[in-house]
Amino acid sequence: MSRNDSLILAIDTSCDDTAAAVTQGSTVLSNIIASQTELHRPYGGVFPTVAKQAHRENIAPVIRNALRRARVSAEQIEAVAVTQGPGLAPALEIGIAAAQEFAQQQSLPLYAINHLEGHLVSVLAQPRKRNATATLAQPKFPALGMIISGGNSLFVLIESLGNYQVLGSTLDDAAGECLDKVGRMLNLGYPAGPVIEQLARTGNAERFPFPLPLTAVKTFDLSFSGLKTHARKLIAGLEAEGKLDLQTIADLAAAAQAGVFRHLTYKLERTLAEYQIEELWLGGGVAANVQLRQQLRATLRTAYPGKQVQLRVPYTKRLCMDNAAMIGVAAGLTPSQRTTTTTVDRIPRLKIGN
Ligand code: KG4
Repeated sequence: MSRNDSLILAIDTSCDDTAAAVTQGSTVLSNIIASQTELHRPYGGVFPTVAKQAHRENIAPVIRNALRRARVSAEQIEAVAVTQGPGLAPALEIGIAAAQEFAQQQSLPLYAINHLEGHLVSVLAQPRKRNATATLAQPKFPALGMIISGGNSLFVLIESLGNYQVLGSTLDDAAGECLDKVGRMLNLGYPAGPVIEQLARTGNAERFPFPLPLTAVKTFDLSFSGLKTHARKLIAGLEAEGKLDLQTIADLAAAAQAGVFRHLTYKLERTLAEYQIEELWLGGGVAANVQLRQQLRATLRTAYPGKQVQLRVPYTKRLCMDNAAMIGVAAGLTPSQRTTTTTVDRIPRLKIGN
């Protein structure tokens, strides 16, 4: 793996978290995230103008905090990396403006990074406290990347770092978005993924079997809107009958989660039948879910009996959610493929790979 060991200040404001980090190669020296969850809670989702205003207020203190936590001064930073997209246009703008300003003031190279690539390489990030000379177990390629979050759900074939091919992606909602919407129907608050994970532990998923989407098509695409509609009808019926008690809510949470994860593992099985991979990389907010990790490991064992295929996940849940450390690590791990710039155009619908 070629890498750039410069000290990088990284910034991500793609959605509703204001994030800055200091990284060096794949090592995370700090990873600061100012969450806007409370601000958006009343809307049950992210409200773009509210997000922009909050980013504007948070960005300078978040950068200062990232430098302080990393114990480096602005003068020691050697390059700046910023998320160019995909994301909300008004939100992206704030991070890009701050990154450009910092790079200009310190006369530093600036890297424009794809947020999705950040989620992919988040599994390669390493904590500072590990022996500085210790190197990460070298990734084996081809790997399959799964980015499963509130804004994205996709399968990416990784031939090498920087060389990506999207095999399939969601045709409608993202997996986390589906869980959030079901959570909203059940009044579980926002974001609902972690609450659903907790409730699912005491729930009986088999009480409410969910349909398995897109079984008739051979593609590796995903679709979650049918699961959401199924949940809506189910919940409306139970509510009308006055049967929405606490155990039923837990059972519904377990069932919805099982439906979403079964769809993911089903499409993973199909992908593994067609592509021989050496590792599976899991990133994005939903990657924090322990049940999902277990199911993916089980799928790998069944698909490749006798062959050990590692599931790589970020070393901390903080790297699953939107964060800037993954943006710095992306810049640090693939320097040869990056051109530096002084200005970055935001690309809200930026794609990855083909
Ligand atoms: O990557 P992320 O922070 O940002 C977006 O792309 O939105 O992901 C947030 C998503 C939300 O949908 C949230 O409900 C989900 O990740 N999530 C989880 C868990 N933790 C966060 N879903 C399932 N289980 C979890 N433990």
